[in-house]
Amino acid sequence: MATAFSFAQALLFSKTSLSLRTNGLKSFSFCLPFSSSSAALSFDKPHSKKWKQPVASVLEIGGVKISKDDVLRDDPTNNVPDTIFAKLGMQLHRRDHHPLGILKNAIYEYFDTNYSNKFDKFDDLCPLVSVKENFDDVLVPADHVSRSYNDTYYVDSQTVLRCHTSAHQAELLRRGHTHFLVTGDVYRRDSIDSTHYPVFHQMEGVRVFSPEDWAPGTDATCYVAEDLKKCLEGLARHLFGAVEMRWVDTYFPFTNPSFELEIFFQEKWLEVLGCGVTEQEILKRSGKTDNVAWAFGLGLERLAMVLFDIPDIRLFWSTDERFTSQFLKGQLGVKFKPYSKYPPCYKDVSFWISESFTENNLCEVVREVAGDLAEEVQLIDNFTNKKGMTSHCYRIAYRSMERSLTDEEINKLQSTVRELVESKLKVVLR
Ligand code: PHE
Repeated sequence: MATAFSFAQALLFSKTSLSLRTNGLKSFSFCLPFSSSSAALSFDKPHSKKWKQPVASVLEIGGVKISKDDVLRDDPTNNVPDTIFAKLGMQLHRRDHHPLGILKNAIYEYFDTNYSNKFDKFDDLCPLVSVKENFDDVLVPADHVSRSYNDTYYVDSQTVLRCHTSAHQAELLRRGHTHFLVTGDVYRRDSIDSTHYPVFHQMEGVRVFSPEDWAPGTDATCYVAEDLKKCLEGLARHLFGAVEMRWVDTYFPFTNPSFELEIFFQEKWLEVLGCGVTEQEILKRSGKTDNVAWAFGLGLERLAMVLFDIPDIRLFWSTDERFTSQFLKGQLGVKFKPYSKYPPCYKDVSFWISESFTENNLCEVVREVAGDLAEEVQLIDNFTNKKGMTSHCYRIAYRSMERSLTDEEINKLQSTVRELVESKLKVVLR
Protein backbone atom coordinates (compact mmCIF):
# COMPACT_ATOMS: atom_id res chain seq x y z
CA MET A 1 0.00 0.00 0.00
CA ALA A 2 1.39 3.42 -0.88
CA THR A 3 2.67 5.21 2.20
CA ALA A 4 0.86 8.30 1.05
CA PHE A 5 -2.43 6.71 1.95
CA SER A 6 -1.55 4.60 4.91
CA PHE A 7 -0.63 7.47 7.13
CA ALA A 8 -3.86 8.71 8.64
CA GLN A 9 -7.57 8.96 8.16
CA ALA A 10 -7.80 8.95 4.37
CA LEU A 11 -10.21 11.19 2.55
CA LEU A 12 -13.44 9.29 2.52
CA PHE A 13 -14.68 10.39 -0.82
CA SER A 14 -11.69 9.96 -3.09
CA LYS A 15 -11.29 6.89 -5.27
CA THR A 16 -7.93 6.12 -3.74
CA SER A 17 -9.33 6.00 -0.26
CA LEU A 18 -12.17 3.85 -1.44
CA SER A 19 -9.77 1.28 -2.76
CA LEU A 20 -7.77 1.55 0.43
CA ARG A 21 -10.89 0.86 2.39
CA THR A 22 -11.77 -2.19 0.36
CA ASN A 23 -8.28 -3.65 0.75
CA GLY A 24 -8.99 -4.95 4.21
CA LEU A 25 -11.66 -7.46 4.93
CA LYS A 26 -14.35 -4.94 5.57
CA SER A 27 -17.50 -5.57 3.66
CA PHE A 28 -18.15 -2.68 1.39
CA SER A 29 -21.25 -3.56 -0.43
CA PHE A 30 -22.79 -0.37 -1.72
CA CYS A 31 -25.67 -0.55 0.68
CA LEU A 32 -28.20 1.98 1.76
CA PRO A 33 -28.09 3.01 5.41
CA PHE A 34 -30.71 0.65 6.64
CA SER A 35 -30.26 -2.47 4.62
CA SER A 36 -31.44 -5.56 6.46
CA SER A 37 -27.89 -6.54 7.40
CA SER A 38 -27.06 -3.23 8.99
CA ALA A 39 -30.39 -2.77 10.70
CA ALA A 40 -29.79 -6.05 12.47
CA LEU A 41 -27.05 -4.35 14.38
CA SER A 42 -28.78 -2.23 16.92
CA PHE A 43 -26.38 -1.40 19.67
CA ASP A 44 -27.74 -1.78 23.15
CA LYS A 45 -27.19 0.94 25.67
CA PRO A 46 -23.57 0.68 26.70
CA HIS A 47 -22.54 -0.94 29.95
CA SER A 48 -21.49 1.25 32.79
CA LYS A 49 -17.74 1.84 32.71
CA LYS A 50 -15.99 3.29 35.67
CA TRP A 51 -13.16 4.86 33.65
CA LYS A 52 -15.50 7.01 31.65
CA GLN A 53 -15.75 10.70 32.39
CA PRO A 54 -19.21 11.94 33.27
CA VAL A 55 -20.88 13.52 30.28
CA ALA A 56 -23.18 16.50 30.39
CA SER A 57 -26.57 15.47 29.12
CA VAL A 58 -27.45 18.75 27.41
CA LEU A 59 -24.96 20.58 25.23
CA GLU A 60 -25.09 23.74 23.23
CA ILE A 61 -23.06 23.88 20.03
CA GLY A 62 -23.26 26.83 17.72
CA GLY A 63 -26.53 27.92 19.29
CA VAL A 64 -28.11 24.46 18.90
CA LYS A 65 -29.19 22.63 22.05
CA ILE A 66 -28.43 18.94 21.92
CA SER A 67 -29.72 16.60 24.55
CA LYS A 68 -28.25 13.17 25.13
CA ASP A 69 -31.62 11.54 24.55
CA ASP A 70 -31.83 13.14 21.12
CA VAL A 71 -28.52 11.68 20.01
CA LEU A 72 -28.55 8.27 21.69
CA ARG A 73 -31.78 6.52 21.00
CA ASP A 74 -32.85 2.93 21.37
CA ASP A 75 -33.91 2.62 17.81
CA PRO A 76 -32.53 0.56 14.93
CA THR A 77 -32.03 3.74 12.89
CA ASN A 78 -29.57 5.02 15.53
CA ASN A 79 -26.01 3.72 15.75
CA VAL A 80 -24.39 6.42 17.92
CA PRO A 81 -22.67 4.96 20.99
CA ASP A 82 -22.18 6.70 24.31
CA THR A 83 -18.45 7.10 23.64
CA ILE A 84 -19.22 9.26 20.62
CA PHE A 85 -21.76 11.40 22.42
CA ALA A 86 -19.02 12.08 24.98
CA LYS A 87 -16.97 13.80 22.27
CA LEU A 88 -19.69 16.18 21.13
CA GLY A 89 -18.94 19.73 22.12
CA MET A 90 -15.27 19.05 22.95
CA GLN A 91 -14.19 21.17 19.96
CA LEU A 92 -10.45 20.54 20.28
CA HIS A 93 -9.94 22.80 17.25
CA ARG A 94 -11.11 25.81 19.28
CA ARG A 95 -8.41 25.46 21.92
CA ASP A 96 -5.53 27.82 21.21
CA HIS A 97 -3.00 25.73 23.17
CA HIS A 98 -3.97 22.44 21.55
CA PRO A 99 -2.05 21.19 18.49
CA LEU A 100 -5.28 21.23 16.44
CA GLY A 101 -6.11 24.79 17.51
CA ILE A 102 -2.55 25.91 16.83
CA LEU A 103 -2.72 24.38 13.35
CA LYS A 104 -6.13 25.92 12.63
CA ASN A 105 -4.81 29.33 13.63
CA ALA A 106 -1.73 28.90 11.43
CA ILE A 107 -3.98 28.17 8.45
CA TYR A 108 -6.16 31.17 9.32
CA GLU A 109 -3.03 33.29 9.40
CA TYR A 110 -2.09 32.17 5.87
CA PHE A 111 -5.53 33.06 4.50
CA ASP A 112 -5.79 36.34 6.40
CA THR A 113 -2.37 37.47 5.17
CA ASN A 114 -2.79 36.43 1.56
CA TYR A 115 -6.44 37.39 1.09
CA SER A 116 -6.62 40.46 3.36
CA ASN A 117 -9.10 38.90 5.80
CA LYS A 118 -11.58 38.07 3.04
CA PHE A 119 -12.28 34.53 4.22
CA ASP A 120 -15.19 34.17 6.65
CA LYS A 121 -14.39 31.65 9.34
CA PHE A 122 -16.74 29.15 10.95
CA ASP A 123 -15.61 26.78 13.67
CA ASP A 124 -18.72 26.37 15.77
CA LEU A 125 -21.26 24.87 13.38
CA CYS A 126 -23.30 22.06 14.87
CA PRO A 127 -22.00 18.59 13.86
CA LEU A 128 -25.55 17.20 13.71
CA VAL A 129 -26.63 17.67 10.14
CA SER A 130 -29.27 16.27 7.84
CA VAL A 131 -28.59 13.46 5.40
CA LYS A 132 -29.41 16.04 2.75
CA GLU A 133 -26.68 18.42 3.91
CA ASN A 134 -24.08 15.72 4.45
CA PHE A 135 -24.67 13.85 1.20
CA ASP A 136 -27.36 15.08 -1.21
CA ASP A 137 -26.38 18.74 -1.28
CA VAL A 138 -22.82 17.81 -2.25
CA LEU A 139 -23.99 15.30 -4.85
CA VAL A 140 -22.86 12.12 -3.09
CA PRO A 141 -24.57 9.33 -5.09
CA ALA A 142 -27.43 7.43 -3.45
CA ASP A 143 -25.40 4.18 -3.47
CA HIS A 144 -22.09 5.66 -2.26
CA VAL A 145 -20.38 3.61 0.44
CA SER A 146 -20.02 6.62 2.73
CA ARG A 147 -23.80 6.68 3.25
CA SER A 148 -23.81 3.21 4.74
CA TYR A 149 -24.68 2.48 8.31
CA ASN A 150 -21.29 0.79 8.52
CA ASP A 151 -19.41 4.03 7.82
CA THR A 152 -21.53 6.86 9.19
CA TYR A 153 -23.14 7.59 12.55
CA TYR A 154 -26.87 8.00 12.12
CA VAL A 155 -28.97 9.72 14.76
CA ASP A 156 -32.09 8.76 12.83
CA SER A 157 -32.82 7.99 9.22
CA GLN A 158 -32.59 11.68 8.25
CA THR A 159 -29.89 12.96 10.61
CA VAL A 160 -26.20 12.11 10.89
CA LEU A 161 -23.10 13.27 12.70
CA ARG A 162 -21.37 15.01 9.79
CA CYS A 163 -18.69 12.84 8.23
CA HIS A 164 -17.02 15.80 6.53
CA THR A 165 -17.06 19.57 6.74
CA SER A 166 -18.31 19.63 3.14
CA ALA A 167 -21.73 19.17 4.79
CA HIS A 168 -21.80 22.96 5.29
CA GLN A 169 -20.78 24.03 1.79
CA ALA A 170 -24.20 24.34 0.21
CA GLU A 171 -25.83 26.20 3.10
CA LEU A 172 -23.03 28.75 3.33
CA LEU A 173 -23.10 29.31 -0.43
CA ARG A 174 -26.86 29.80 -0.25
CA ARG A 175 -26.35 32.33 2.52
CA GLY A 176 -24.16 34.32 0.12
CA HIS A 177 -20.65 33.60 1.44
CA THR A 178 -18.05 33.62 -1.31
CA HIS A 179 -14.84 33.05 0.66
CA PHE A 180 -15.03 30.79 3.69
CA LEU A 181 -13.25 28.30 5.93
CA VAL A 182 -15.19 25.77 8.01
CA THR A 183 -13.40 23.88 10.77
CA GLY A 184 -15.12 21.18 12.79
CA ASP A 185 -15.15 17.76 14.37
CA VAL A 186 -16.26 15.03 11.96
CA TYR A 187 -17.39 11.50 12.74
CA ARG A 188 -16.76 8.19 10.96
CA ARG A 189 -17.11 4.58 11.97
CA ASP A 190 -13.71 3.11 11.30
CA SER A 191 -10.91 0.72 12.18
CA ILE A 192 -8.65 1.06 15.23
CA ASP A 193 -4.99 1.94 14.87
CA SER A 194 -2.59 4.78 15.59
CA THR A 195 -4.00 7.00 12.82
CA HIS A 196 -7.73 6.24 12.96
CA TYR A 197 -10.18 7.54 15.50
CA PRO A 198 -13.95 7.82 15.05
CA VAL A 199 -13.87 11.56 15.67
CA PHE A 200 -11.36 13.79 13.95
CA HIS A 201 -11.19 17.33 12.62
CA GLN A 202 -11.33 18.84 9.17
CA MET A 203 -11.07 22.23 7.60
CA GLU A 204 -12.96 23.07 4.46
CA GLY A 205 -12.16 26.05 2.26
CA VAL A 206 -14.34 27.50 -0.51
CA ARG A 207 -13.73 30.43 -2.83
CA VAL A 208 -16.28 31.64 -5.39
CA PHE A 209 -15.19 33.55 -8.50
CA SER A 210 -17.26 35.88 -10.69
CA PRO A 211 -16.87 36.37 -14.47
CA GLU A 212 -14.91 39.60 -13.89
CA ASP A 213 -12.21 37.55 -12.16
CA TRP A 214 -11.08 35.69 -15.28
CA ALA A 215 -10.10 37.29 -18.59
CA PRO A 216 -12.80 37.05 -21.29
CA GLY A 217 -12.18 34.10 -23.58
CA THR A 218 -10.18 32.11 -21.03
CA ASP A 219 -11.44 28.84 -19.68
CA ALA A 220 -12.94 29.58 -16.26
CA THR A 221 -12.42 26.04 -14.94
CA CYS A 222 -8.72 26.10 -15.86
CA TYR A 223 -8.31 29.53 -14.33
CA VAL A 224 -9.93 28.44 -11.06
CA ALA A 225 -7.99 25.15 -10.94
CA GLU A 226 -4.72 27.06 -11.36
CA ASP A 227 -5.69 29.52 -8.64
CA LEU A 228 -6.60 26.64 -6.31
CA LYS A 229 -3.25 24.93 -6.85
CA LYS A 230 -1.29 28.12 -6.27
CA CYS A 231 -3.24 28.84 -3.09
CA LEU A 232 -2.73 25.37 -1.64
CA GLU A 233 0.93 25.10 -2.61
CA GLY A 234 1.43 28.35 -0.71
CA LEU A 235 -0.44 26.93 2.27
CA ALA A 236 1.71 23.77 2.26
CA ARG A 237 4.88 25.91 2.20
CA HIS A 238 3.50 28.06 5.02
CA LEU A 239 3.01 24.93 7.15
CA PHE A 240 5.87 22.67 6.09
CA GLY A 241 8.51 24.98 4.66
CA ALA A 242 10.18 24.38 1.27
CA VAL A 243 8.89 20.85 0.61
CA GLU A 244 8.61 18.89 -2.62
CA MET A 245 4.98 18.56 -3.74
CA ARG A 246 2.98 16.71 -6.35
CA TRP A 247 -0.60 16.83 -7.59
CA VAL A 248 -2.52 13.61 -8.08
CA ASP A 249 -5.77 13.44 -10.06
CA THR A 250 -8.61 11.87 -8.12
CA TYR A 251 -12.39 11.77 -7.84
CA PHE A 252 -14.78 13.47 -5.44
CA PRO A 253 -18.53 13.65 -6.08
CA PHE A 254 -18.55 17.40 -5.39
CA THR A 255 -15.61 18.61 -7.49
CA ASN A 256 -14.49 18.22 -11.09
CA PRO A 257 -11.62 18.14 -11.81
CA SER A 258 -10.47 16.83 -8.43
CA PHE A 259 -6.96 16.62 -7.03
CA GLU A 260 -4.98 15.51 -4.03
CA LEU A 261 -1.90 17.34 -2.91
CA GLU A 262 0.99 15.26 -1.63
CA ILE A 263 4.16 16.50 -0.04
CA PHE A 264 7.47 14.70 0.38
CA PHE A 265 8.06 14.87 4.09
CA GLN A 266 10.36 12.75 6.25
CA GLU A 267 11.20 10.46 3.32
CA LYS A 268 7.58 9.72 2.46
CA TRP A 269 4.86 11.04 0.16
CA LEU A 270 2.08 12.25 2.41
CA GLU A 271 -1.42 13.04 1.21
CA VAL A 272 -2.19 16.47 2.60
CA LEU A 273 -5.61 17.37 1.28
CA GLY A 274 -8.32 16.84 -1.32
CA CYS A 275 -9.67 19.60 -3.49
CA GLY A 276 -11.08 20.58 -6.85
CA VAL A 277 -13.29 22.83 -8.89
CA THR A 278 -16.80 22.79 -7.41
CA GLU A 279 -19.40 20.92 -9.45
CA GLN A 280 -21.48 23.50 -11.30
CA GLU A 281 -24.67 21.85 -10.06
CA ILE A 282 -23.84 22.82 -6.46
CA LEU A 283 -23.41 26.47 -7.43
CA LYS A 284 -26.51 26.41 -9.59
CA ARG A 285 -28.63 25.12 -6.71
CA SER A 286 -27.39 27.92 -4.51
CA GLY A 287 -28.37 30.50 -7.11
CA LYS A 288 -24.89 31.12 -8.51
CA THR A 289 -25.21 30.13 -12.16
CA ASP A 290 -22.57 32.54 -13.48
CA ASN A 291 -19.93 31.68 -10.93
CA VAL A 292 -17.14 29.13 -10.68
CA ALA A 293 -15.63 28.03 -7.37
CA TRP A 294 -12.95 25.88 -5.81
CA ALA A 295 -13.10 23.85 -2.61
CA PHE A 296 -10.62 21.93 -0.50
CA GLY A 297 -10.81 19.74 2.58
CA LEU A 298 -7.98 18.77 4.87
CA GLY A 299 -7.66 16.57 7.95
CA LEU A 300 -6.15 18.46 10.86
CA GLU A 301 -4.93 15.37 12.79
CA ARG A 302 -3.10 14.03 9.78
CA LEU A 303 -1.15 17.24 9.40
CA ALA A 304 -0.68 17.83 13.12
CA MET A 305 0.72 14.32 13.67
CA VAL A 306 3.46 15.13 11.18
CA LEU A 307 4.08 18.73 12.18
CA PHE A 308 4.22 18.05 15.93
CA ASP A 309 5.59 14.48 15.78
CA ILE A 310 2.54 13.07 17.56
CA PRO A 311 2.74 9.27 17.24
CA ASP A 312 -0.81 8.23 18.16
CA ILE A 313 -4.10 9.91 17.25
CA ARG A 314 -5.57 9.17 20.71
CA LEU A 315 -3.10 11.63 22.22
CA PHE A 316 -5.11 14.57 20.84
CA TRP A 317 -7.79 13.68 23.40
CA SER A 318 -5.39 13.30 26.30
CA THR A 319 -5.91 15.47 29.35
CA ASP A 320 -2.57 14.33 30.81
CA GLU A 321 -0.52 17.38 31.63
CA ARG A 322 2.56 15.68 30.25
CA PHE A 323 0.84 16.04 26.87
CA THR A 324 -1.11 19.26 27.18
CA SER A 325 1.74 21.29 28.70
CA GLN A 326 3.94 20.73 25.65
CA PHE A 327 1.95 22.99 23.30
CA LEU A 328 1.64 26.73 23.33
CA LYS A 329 -0.53 29.19 21.41
CA GLY A 330 1.08 30.22 18.13
CA GLN A 331 3.85 27.62 18.26
CA LEU A 332 3.40 25.49 15.19
CA GLY A 333 5.58 22.42 14.87
CA VAL A 334 7.05 22.19 18.36
CA LYS A 335 8.10 18.53 18.50
CA PHE A 336 6.25 16.39 20.99
CA LYS A 337 8.52 14.62 23.49
CA PRO A 338 7.01 11.25 24.36
CA TYR A 339 6.82 10.49 28.03
CA SER A 340 7.39 6.93 29.13
CA LYS A 341 5.65 4.45 26.93
CA TYR A 342 3.74 1.81 28.85
CA PRO A 343 3.76 -1.75 27.52
CA PRO A 344 0.94 -2.96 25.27
CA CYS A 345 -0.98 -6.09 26.07
CA TYR A 346 -2.21 -8.28 23.20
CA LYS A 347 -5.31 -10.45 23.26
CA ASP A 348 -6.68 -12.50 20.38
CA VAL A 349 -10.28 -13.27 19.60
CA SER A 350 -11.39 -15.78 16.95
CA PHE A 351 -14.85 -16.40 15.61
CA TRP A 352 -16.86 -17.69 12.68
CA ILE A 353 -18.19 -14.59 10.98
CA SER A 354 -21.78 -14.08 9.91
CA GLU A 355 -22.90 -12.45 6.68
CA SER A 356 -23.50 -9.11 8.34
CA PHE A 357 -20.12 -9.01 10.09
CA THR A 358 -17.92 -5.98 9.40
CA GLU A 359 -14.65 -4.89 10.92
CA ASN A 360 -16.08 -1.45 11.72
CA ASN A 361 -18.78 -3.08 13.84
CA LEU A 362 -16.15 -5.10 15.69
CA CYS A 363 -14.11 -1.96 16.32
CA GLU A 364 -17.18 -0.18 17.62
CA VAL A 365 -17.67 -2.94 20.20
CA VAL A 366 -14.00 -2.79 21.21
CA ARG A 367 -14.14 0.98 21.62
CA GLU A 368 -17.35 0.72 23.57
CA VAL A 369 -15.69 -1.63 26.05
CA ALA A 370 -12.11 -0.36 26.17
CA GLY A 371 -12.43 3.27 25.10
CA ASP A 372 -9.05 4.82 24.42
CA LEU A 373 -7.26 1.81 25.91
CA ALA A 374 -7.81 0.12 22.55
CA GLU A 375 -4.72 0.88 20.51
CA GLU A 376 -5.09 -1.42 17.55
CA VAL A 377 -7.35 -4.11 16.16
CA GLN A 378 -5.71 -6.18 13.51
CA LEU A 379 -6.88 -9.16 11.47
CA ILE A 380 -4.16 -11.77 11.89
CA ASP A 381 -5.82 -14.86 10.49
CA ASN A 382 -8.59 -15.52 8.02
CA PHE A 383 -9.67 -18.79 6.43
CA THR A 384 -12.73 -20.52 5.00
CA ASN A 385 -13.33 -24.18 5.78
CA LYS A 386 -14.76 -26.87 3.52
CA LYS A 387 -18.29 -26.11 4.72
CA GLY A 388 -17.86 -22.51 3.56
CA MET A 389 -17.61 -21.06 7.07
CA THR A 390 -15.15 -18.19 7.42
CA SER A 391 -13.10 -17.68 10.53
CA HIS A 392 -11.39 -14.43 11.53
CA CYS A 393 -8.86 -13.97 14.24
CA TYR A 394 -8.24 -10.43 15.46
CA ARG A 395 -5.42 -9.29 17.69
CA ILE A 396 -6.42 -6.46 20.01
CA ALA A 397 -3.65 -4.31 21.44
CA TYR A 398 -4.57 -2.64 24.72
CA ARG A 399 -2.34 0.13 25.96
CA SER A 400 -2.80 3.19 28.09
CA MET A 401 -0.74 6.24 27.27
CA GLU A 402 -0.90 7.30 30.88
CA ARG A 403 -0.34 4.27 33.10
CA SER A 404 0.42 0.55 33.26
CA LEU A 405 -2.59 -1.71 32.91
CA THR A 406 -3.04 -4.69 35.21
CA ASP A 407 -3.61 -8.22 33.91
CA GLU A 408 -6.86 -8.36 35.80
CA GLU A 409 -8.14 -5.21 34.13
CA ILE A 410 -7.24 -6.41 30.64
CA ASN A 411 -8.74 -9.86 31.19
CA LYS A 412 -11.98 -8.24 32.26
CA LEU A 413 -12.05 -6.03 29.18
CA GLN A 414 -11.29 -8.94 26.91
CA SER A 415 -13.99 -11.11 28.40
CA THR A 416 -16.54 -8.30 27.95
CA VAL A 417 -15.38 -7.84 24.37
CA ARG A 418 -15.88 -11.58 23.76
CA GLU A 419 -19.37 -11.51 25.25
CA LEU A 420 -20.48 -8.49 23.27
CA VAL A 421 -18.89 -9.64 20.04
CA GLU A 422 -20.96 -12.79 20.28
CA SER A 423 -24.22 -11.15 21.30
CA LYS A 424 -24.11 -8.06 19.10
CA LEU A 425 -22.27 -9.16 16.01
CA LYS A 426 -24.01 -12.52 15.72
CA VAL A 427 -20.75 -14.40 15.27
CA VAL A 428 -19.78 -17.71 16.87
CA LEU A 429 -16.71 -17.59 19.09
CA ARG A 430 -14.13 -20.31 18.57
N1 PHE B 1 -14.91 16.17 1.90
C1 PHE B 1 -13.77 15.47 1.34
C2 PHE B 1 -13.42 14.28 2.26
O1 PHE B 1 -13.68 14.32 3.43
C3 PHE B 1 -12.58 16.41 1.14
C4 PHE B 1 -12.82 17.47 0.08
C5 PHE B 1 -13.39 18.68 0.39
C6 PHE B 1 -12.46 17.22 -1.24
C7 PHE B 1 -13.62 19.65 -0.59
C8 PHE B 1 -12.67 18.17 -2.21
C9 PHE B 1 -13.24 19.38 -1.88
O2 PHE B 1 -12.90 13.28 1.81
